[in-house]
Amino acid sequence: MIQVIETAEEMQRVADRLRSEGKKIGCVPTMGFLHEGHISLMQKAREVSDVVVISIFVNPTQFGPSEDLERYPRDLEGDLKKAEEAGVDYVYFPSNVEMYPEGYQTYITVEDVSQGLCGASRPAHFRGVATVVAKLFNIMKPHMAFFGEKDYQQLKVIERMTKDLNFDMEIVGLPTIREPDGMALSSRNAYLSDSEREQALSLSRALEHARSLAANGERRVPVLVEEAKEIINNAQGVKIDYLEIRDGQTLEEIHEIKGPARMLVAAYVGKARLIDNMSIP
Ligand code: PAF
Repeated sequence: MIQVIETAEEMQRVADRLRSEGKKIGCVPTMGFLHEGHISLMQKAREVSDVVVISIFVNPTQFGPSEDLERYPRDLEGDLKKAEEAGVDYVYFPSNVEMYPEGYQTYITVEDVSQGLCGASRPAHFRGVATVVAKLFNIMKPHMAFFGEKDYQQLKVIERMTKDLNFDMEIVGLPTIREPDGMALSSRNAYLSDSEREQALSLSRALEHARSLAANGERRVPVLVEEAKEIINNAQGVKIDYLEIRDGQTLEEIHEIKGPARMLVAAYVGKARLIDNMSIP
């Protein structure tokens, strides 16, 4: 039977007990409104750990003042059902005050890898992500934590932070889960009408197009970027925030494909800001 824990103190006590029994803890931090992407992370955690702990917390410090914190979709009952079916043992479900009590004033900034891409249009976003994830690691005390490549820059920020701050645990990144037509799964897809969803498909199509051009020998980054942008600009109602190709590991800017690279895109479709990315071979 899945167990919901609401305080850091109890979660830490449970994690300590599990560790003293020699159990390997796998964790999946989430903001809830679970979809198949989250489920794939939980299933992997189930496969390789003894105990699976997820967190559900819509973290206010990673939202900007004009972003969608208030209307971010929530469905605790549905989430618990899905988590139980995926074999989750514990759900850490703290309140805002539990995570950020009065007087709270400590934040983590991961420097270079947080710059540009989503960091440019969401200036405090990765500071909020790094802070809450570090707190969740200290509370859930996992041996392994699972994140989706869908939030690729976030994954790189978390990998860097874990290494730099000597968290004694492993970060596992897993591939983006897509609908059969290529649309990347995201809780924010819930904001899209049918016609907006159709327009939003241009993102994955643009990435696929650039990927196949690269696979056929095109190495020039500006050419790949322009080709991909054209596909999105032809889809009415989609406004590109950024579309770039970066080094696949460091996310540094590159001008030519010489090794593993990543094309990353963010765009506004209706009320949603969507992101997607793919590896460029
Ligand atoms: O990817 C998310 O859902 C969130 O950014 C995370 C990692 C749970 C931190 O709030």
